[in-house]
Amino acid sequence: MIEYRNLRVALLGAGSVGAQVAALLIEHGQELANRAGAGLELVGVAVRDVNATRSTDIPRELLTTDAESLILGADIVIELMGGLEPARTLILQALNSGADVITGNKALLATHGPELFEAAEQVGAQLYYEAAVAGAIPIIRPLRDSLAGDRIQRILGIVNGTTNFILDRMDRAGESLETALATATELGYAEKSDPSADIEGFDAAQKTAILASLAFHTTVPLDAVYREGITGVTLAQVDAARKAGYVVKLLAICERLTDEQGVEGVSARVYPALVPRDHPLAAVHGAKNAVFIEAEAAGDLMFYGAGAGGIETASAVLGDLVSAARRHVIGGPGVAESTHANLPILPISRVITRYQITLSVVDQPGALAAVAVLFSGHGVSVETLTQSVQLSDSGVSTPSPTATLVIGTHEASEADLAATVLALESSDVVSQVTSVLRVEGS
Ligand code: HSE
Repeated sequence: MIEYRNLRVALLGAGSVGAQVAALLIEHGQELANRAGAGLELVGVAVRDVNATRSTDIPRELLTTDAESLILGADIVIELMGGLEPARTLILQALNSGADVITGNKALLATHGPELFEAAEQVGAQLYYEAAVAGAIPIIRPLRDSLAGDRIQRILGIVNGTTNFILDRMDRAGESLETALATATELGYAEKSDPSADIEGFDAAQKTAILASLAFHTTVPLDAVYREGITGVTLAQVDAARKAGYVVKLLAICERLTDEQGVEGVSARVYPALVPRDHPLAAVHGAKNAVFIEAEAAGDLMFYGAGAGGIETASAVLGDLVSAARRHVIGGPGVAESTHANLPILPISRVITRYQITLSVVDQPGALAAVAVLFSGHGVSVETLTQSVQLSDSGVSTPSPTATLVIGTHEASEADLAATVLALESSDVVSQVTSVLRVEGS
């Protein structure tokens, strides 16, 4: 057996991911050491309650409630506690002591990323976070390293498994949002007490901030990410989408936008959107995640896999651990986070995309013309139009007939589209704007 220099590894947190990291590190320690060129000694695991039940057996002597003492003298600290504090303070302490830090804490990175990256740079340490976005899927390293020579135009990501599971159930099993959410909760995807982080899009927004920052070499703060969740998505919208050749997906979108003067900016946004059924993202079912990247030279790339799960996410953490250990063996400072482009972050009103709008209108002469005038008056060009007339149970038109119009637009700005929708809502011929969905990926 080869004798290696020993690196001291401190683990903070033994929840579903942490417990798996500890177990895999103990089980495959020698193999990982061979890959890293350094021994990886798990010196302790900081937990809130040493007597709590865990998904794997961690030797009792490794457990401690004293995280601060544990990180003293560690070469590599793995933070899997979650939450903002004390995770932030402990990571700063670890970095300031010169340790490399591995974290899966997307909320912390999206909120305090610049402070943590700055602290790492100051002492030449490295902060790794492959597990923070899309669980097991390698996406951070591909963006930071493999695609460092390319220019990314756009990222479309399904980065929240719970909402993808719910929308998939609505699409393929015809379940209502409420029923699908109950199933997601039963299966442990959605939090019982508060599923809002998932269904309101907060979790996806945190991941979007991280992806956009990396992709565009620009710090994208969490509050600059436009966010809509899936709570407004109806079964009727999902059914209509299917009939029109689309599927509704909650997308994390990071996009490089260029104005007429050639000035570039970044748009980071999360919303439910219509995706053509022949787009690769439409084939992402259940709680799986996928990240679709459009790069200038590489073209289209897609990364697919498990976006959550203890052992799956542990794989990403252990990959970071081997990288960190290799860096210790080689020596030298860590690679600083690249924010040199410093592009302006653009508001949602600057986004240009396509839309599908569903309206109930009074079925009388001139109604269609009136609607068309509202679109053209706001510079929004109609691409497709289908009309269906409401029939009574006997199969004849009702006394005051209404028609449903489904209008697909060419590309238009969010600002123009919003003005069009406002005008439609106050028009005499429109009884209701029943659905407005963006179309992405076509
Ligand atoms: N709750 C997330 C999801 C997993 O449903 O994908 C953790 O980011």
